[in-house]
Amino acid sequence: MWQDQYRLLIFDEIDSTNQEALRLAKNGICQDLVIFAKNQTDGYGRSKRPWQSGEGNLAMSILLKSDDFSKVQSQLSFVVGLSLYDVIGRILSTQNIVAEVMLKWPNDLMINEAKIAGILLESIKYNNIKYLVIGIGVNLCSAPKIENRQTTSLNNLGLKVISARELLDLIMNSFIYYNDLWRKQGFGVIRKLWLEKTFKTGDLVTFTDGSIKIVGHFLDIDSEGAVRMKLSSGEIYSKTSGEVFFGEIDV
Ligand code: BTN
Repeated sequence: MWQDQYRLLIFDEIDSTNQEALRLAKNGICQDLVIFAKNQTDGYGRSKRPWQSGEGNLAMSILLKSDDFSKVQSQLSFVVGLSLYDVIGRILSTQNIVAEVMLKWPNDLMINEAKIAGILLESIKYNNIKYLVIGIGVNLCSAPKIENRQTTSLNNLGLKVISARELLDLIMNSFIYYNDLWRKQGFGVIRKLWLEKTFKTGDLVTFTDGSIKIVGHFLDIDSEGAVRMKLSSGEIYSKTSGEVFFGEIDV
């Protein structure tokens, strides 16, 4: 039971669960907290893009003290990605919905090529202690628009939607499983599982970090979680941050 290990804080409304987690860390109220908000007024995603949670969607953050894994922090977003994939995949199959579920580097969950969930990792150092915040947003009831992206929700897929609070329980139980696996067996096993759920080796993909666009064939992720692509020149291109899209696209 995840609540044996973490304490849950529930807010009816808050600016952003990630911001609240960072504030709590600064106030010394820290380790192993889960922050859940029924409504977020100022949520944000990667690259500080606004993130609309929409009524009934899941907005949560996990606050961890990170001194024991500071070097491998980026690996944790793959751990969380596996949890989201498992939980959403299970919900789909129990309701007999056939859909293509996929993890998209670095930390999106896609259904039928539309984004249904995102993960945002942030860290803060305070009093010489490093804290890590894992923000998770899942579209349950509605699919707020994101510029130049397709989005979807469980509701759009015709699923009988469970509540955000119930989904949080499922995600936390799965997170505990994969977090344990990662800590005991290392990133190798996480990387292998993650690669089974993403683009196939050789798929044509487009990488962008907002300013450059690189088209190539997806290879894999390396031991740090960086994406690796093979370019037409034969050169291997590797990046730790940015985004990868299926096919050759305009960005
Ligand atoms: C992304 O895909 O860019 C990441 C989206 C992360 C959104 C979640 S919602 C809960 C938490 N609070 C925030 O302000 N952001 C994250």
